[in-house]
Amino acid sequence: MNIFLCILLPVFFLLVRRKRSSDRVPPGSLGLPVIGQSLSFLWAMRANTADRWIAERAKRYGPISKLSLFGKPAVFIHGQAANKFVFTSDDSIMNNHQTESIKMILGDRCLSELSGEDHKRVRSALASFLKPECLKLYIGEMEEEVRRHLEMHWNGKQNITVLPLMKTLTFNIICTLLFGVERGARRDKLVQYFQEILEGLWSIPINFPLTRFNRGLKASAKVQNILKDLVREKRVELESAASSHQGLITSLLNIRGEDNRELVSEDEIVHNIMLVMVAGHDTSAVLISFIVRLLANDPAIYAAVLKEQEEIKKSKPSGEFLTWQDLAKMKHTWRVAMETLRTIPPVFGGFRKTLKDIEYEGYLIPKGWQVFWVTSMTHMDNNIFQEPSKFDPYRFENQAPIPPYCYIPFGGGPRMCPGYEFARIETLVTVHYLVTQFNWKLCCNDNSIRRDPVPVPAQGLPIQIRPK
Ligand code: HEM
Repeated sequence: MNIFLCILLPVFFLLVRRKRSSDRVPPGSLGLPVIGQSLSFLWAMRANTADRWIAERAKRYGPISKLSLFGKPAVFIHGQAANKFVFTSDDSIMNNHQTESIKMILGDRCLSELSGEDHKRVRSALASFLKPECLKLYIGEMEEEVRRHLEMHWNGKQNITVLPLMKTLTFNIICTLLFGVERGARRDKLVQYFQEILEGLWSIPINFPLTRFNRGLKASAKVQNILKDLVREKRVELESAASSHQGLITSLLNIRGEDNRELVSEDEIVHNIMLVMVAGHDTSAVLISFIVRLLANDPAIYAAVLKEQEEIKKSKPSGEFLTWQDLAKMKHTWRVAMETLRTIPPVFGGFRKTLKDIEYEGYLIPKGWQVFWVTSMTHMDNNIFQEPSKFDPYRFENQAPIPPYCYIPFGGGPRMCPGYEFARIETLVTVHYLVTQFNWKLCCNDNSIRRDPVPVPAQGLPIQIRPK
């Protein structure tokens, strides 16, 4: 009997293990080749039912499920542990991964495509310019952009549409502060091409004339040519010591190795300028627009924000620029922004790619598959945020800190958004000027949203304004 067991049991376990390892791919379906679930997901994004789409999937399949998005197999995972797993997994196990459309439009040397030492090198170059100590010096320049914007697009007007204007503002702030691109024909061309790029990013990568993807690719080629010229101009200015603007490009060109060789290549600079514009312009515009909508809809929150901003205004001689200390006093305004980011996160989620077979929650995620994470599942989890559907900025005040990897509008871990501080400053400065200079009311009672891929308020948020 013992001999029988010794021989047969290992064979039995081997067979069971073999069977399991092939069965262990998560539940779900990969759908039709290439298309998979992309169309139904994109449809849900545009109808702002993607949160429900995701929640139904989680209810049906549990904490992990397989699907196919944007031409590649993927697993969708969610929850605090899943977020930690995605954000902190080693680069040798899981790599950042953008969809084929994003990679082809933004280029393969942008930060979101780089990994390991290359990612660290380029990210630290970028972060050295986006850190608070450096941004402190640019508050005045940012404020000038906001003042000029209000002068041109708000003063003397009665009806305006907020989202397109906020996109113009955040585009101009990035152009001036980060890239040093003067106003004029070149900037105007960039505005138009970047819009086409943005529309192409979350599209199915089918390169036929007139598809969103095709338009995105063409716009990307044109932008790259403009940016290459710009980088060369900045290099000449730098060499002749005539550089008037110490923006991001100059700062990247200035990073040199021991032999004075540039450490960030021209392609890396160009691809990362495109990434910064794409990652930083719509996201902040959306955040500010939804704050404007909220302040019109909620008199109590408006009153608290106005009080805070009026006190700061009164404490300064008229016309004087805001300081770092003033921004530090805007605590309530920032809590309102944080709650806006929790309830309407500008970034729906993102992708990583497995570099080897990974085991997660007892399932196999095969090598080369995408791992899809989303913000809303943890932001709307009532075990983490009580009454998650209620807009309550006070939840960020004097309470037990939010558990790690649960509040993730800026992602987390080594790839967490390096533009966090930049977004915080431009949001606070803009809200300061809006509430202290204008009254407004909504022209459209429709509070619905669609995602494209960032959330867009109905009709772009038309409002009626009156100067104070
Ligand atoms: C409200 C505004 C913003 C939101 C909600 C936001 C959100 C995010 C998120 C969710 C990620 C992905 C993190 C991950 O994959 O783990 C990200 C990455 C990134 N963001 Fe932002 N962002 C904002 C503004 C900005 C701004 C203003 C800039 C630049 C000035 C910027 C630059 C970047 C870059 C370069 C990355 C890629 C980082 C990497 O791969 O290492 N973002 N952002």
